[in-house]
Amino acid sequence: MTPLLVFWIYIAKNDLTSCFFMQFNIITIFPEFFKSPLECGLLKKAIDSSLISFSFINPRDFTNDVHRSVDDRPYGGGAGMVMMIEPLDKAISSIANPGKILLLSPRGRVFNQSKAQELSKEESITLICGRYEGIDERIEELYDIERISIGDFVLNGGEAAALCVVEAVARFIPGFMGKEESTRCESFANGLLEHPHYTRPAEYKNIKVPQVLLSGNHREIERWRRESSLKETFDYRPDLLEDAKLLPEDYGYLRRYKNEFLGRSLYVGLVHYPVLRKDGKETAVSLTNLDIHDIARVCKTYGIGGYYLITPIIDQQNLAKRLINHWVEGPAKGINPDREKALRLVHIVDYIETAIEDIKLKTGMEPFIVTTSARDEGELGLSVVRKILKQRPVFLLFGTGHGLSKRVMEMAHGILKPIRAFDPYRHLSVRSAASIIIDRILKDVY
Ligand SMILES: C[S@@+](CC[C@H](N)C(=O)[O-])C[C@H]1O[C@@H](n2cnc3c(N)ncnc32)[C@H](O)[C@@H]1O
Repeated sequence: MTPLLVFWIYIAKNDLTSCFFMQFNIITIFPEFFKSPLECGLLKKAIDSSLISFSFINPRDFTNDVHRSVDDRPYGGGAGMVMMIEPLDKAISSIANPGKILLLSPRGRVFNQSKAQELSKEESITLICGRYEGIDERIEELYDIERISIGDFVLNGGEAAALCVVEAVARFIPGFMGKEESTRCESFANGLLEHPHYTRPAEYKNIKVPQVLLSGNHREIERWRRESSLKETFDYRPDLLEDAKLLPEDYGYLRRYKNEFLGRSLYVGLVHYPVLRKDGKETAVSLTNLDIHDIARVCKTYGIGGYYLITPIIDQQNLAKRLINHWVEGPAKGINPDREKALRLVHIVDYIETAIEDIKLKTGMEPFIVTTSARDEGELGLSVVRKILKQRPVFLLFGTGHGLSKRVMEMAHGILKPIRAFDPYRHLSVRSAASIIIDRILKDVY
């Protein structure tokens, strides 16, 4: 009988999933680490049914000295030891079919569900577990290696990380899970976090299971699950929403939820006085029609609470009113309703203090004042602003002319780091800077 015929008889006799097989080769100085995880649950079942198989390669078996040393001191000095290249090289080259070679490292690209799915198509995967301070970098020049991190934290060694990768990948191998349905419905399957789960009893210590789940109405249950999944993602991992596969009706739900959630806490001020002249003296500058329109449009797009045009010069205030009224109440009203909606966000005020009082009145809270500058005077990071925004309103001030005056900088609670702080050229128009900063602050919120 030919080997091919034997193979087809085997497939015919067995369930179709049996033709999938994956080999994991783990290079580690602690193979015993994997003992118990591979002896229980689904991993054990998969090994017993020959769906997956493991081999362990210990770099110590490729050493020549009595101590079986795999590490040495780092060139250049410093704390800790480094895994030597030779035992690792020999360990890798001893594997007949290493397949895809992964190096577990906090310096790698962060592992996720789509990477797990991609790796599940491989026949063989080799995982290199580092120890000590890491491994001699030249190993990456000898082999085609992909660095993988399991998150922004540091473990003692790559073994725990390798186990995470093995489990996540194995779940995608046909036949590994009881019901294929499970991987399809899980978190990240459609780019969202999964909805919450409940089981009996329906009431525990006065806490009830959501009524809709007991209703038997499958359409309503599906809708509740979808909305809960969107809500979970919005609250815990808003960054995922950018690439998630959203349905047309999801946008309506997210918009309603977002408005409640954010409370439109970010306020923007464009200061025309007091700002700096080229020679560093204080001055007042004229309004720019483009700044009024473009920043108002950004504010509307990002759901900002309000946009204050700040100038104490009465002529300039009247000019701003005329420009805005043209679209809101005047001849252009109704011609471009989108522009009208954006310009309705604009408030014309004389001083920064007036705007602050207005924000206090609207929100009942003292706003946290953040100033912006293209000079190297800011230290405040965007993530801090984002955090504050979840607790109280933030008033974000942009300067015209040659930037906000010293007086304004002194009244702020924080000065934002400049955009492209490492670049010597960063001369942006105020409307460009406002767009970039607003997007970066709210990037993870939308
Ligand atoms: C103590 S760590 C070395 C950390 C290294 N000095 C650094 O700061 O990047 C030892 C080993 O643990 C593994 N490791 C630690 N954290 C990891 C993570 N977040 N993801 C994947 N592997 C990790 C790597 O194999 C690494 O070589």
